[in-house]
Amino acid sequence: MTRKLIAGNWKMNGSLAANEALVRAVAQGMGNAQCDVAVCVPAPYLAQVAQLRAGTKLELGAQDVSKHEQGAYTGEVSAAMLRELGVRYAIVGHSERRQYHGETDELVADKAKAALAHGVTPIVCVGETLAEREAGQTADVVKRQMAAVIHVNGHCISEIVVAYEPVWAIGTGKTATPEQAQEVHALLRAQLKAASTHPERVHILYGGSMNAANAATLLAQPDIDGGLIGGASLKAPDFLQIIAAASAASK
Ligand code: 13P
Repeated sequence: MTRKLIAGNWKMNGSLAANEALVRAVAQGMGNAQCDVAVCVPAPYLAQVAQLRAGTKLELGAQDVSKHEQGAYTGEVSAAMLRELGVRYAIVGHSERRQYHGETDELVADKAKAALAHGVTPIVCVGETLAEREAGQTADVVKRQMAAVIHVNGHCISEIVVAYEPVWAIGTGKTATPEQAQEVHALLRAQLKAASTHPERVHILYGGSMNAANAATLLAQPDIDGGLIGGASLKAPDFLQIIAAASAASK
């Protein structure tokens, strides 16, 4: 995988004014970046950011998607709605949704399927908690989470993006070491290879306290194809430094 992908996950942050400043700064600052760049924004801001990014290379992403097509599902947003707004990516199965909204492996797999059916690329998040890592269960947990998505999506699996996000590294300032991340990425790569006709197409991103200082070493790992960035994606200079590191690593 040569061309890296850097996706910002704004989580529940932003305002009309702040978004405008951030998107303009990122779109302008990234210029002709040699990597792909996206921002995954809160649903109410998708239309605003779709307009702001028009004519730039910055791609638009959502943070979730419904598994349902349409109908009586109050509060849900369908993949068709996202597509209509020009959304290219949708994060599914982020650990915050698994933890706070009880999302199961099966639901995450169905959400990925709904996104794919409408031409939205799911960014499927997997990752172990600290307790699971300490119990030596990391490989089992991420493989189980991935297997559910492979099972439901079959050969389409080469159209997804995967994000390995160890839960203990999210928002904690504790990044996985490049070796720890690479070990899990290699395992996921092998699992995808066994299931997919075009495994080389699948980007496997790392997420969890990735920042301007540690991005280059993480992105230098053979199976780390990009990053899913939380906190550092809210500050244009930090996000731009990560984009620059990914550009350099893409060449
Ligand atoms: P942080 O970069 O803030 O640790 O968040 C990572 C994340 O959860 C991205 O989805």
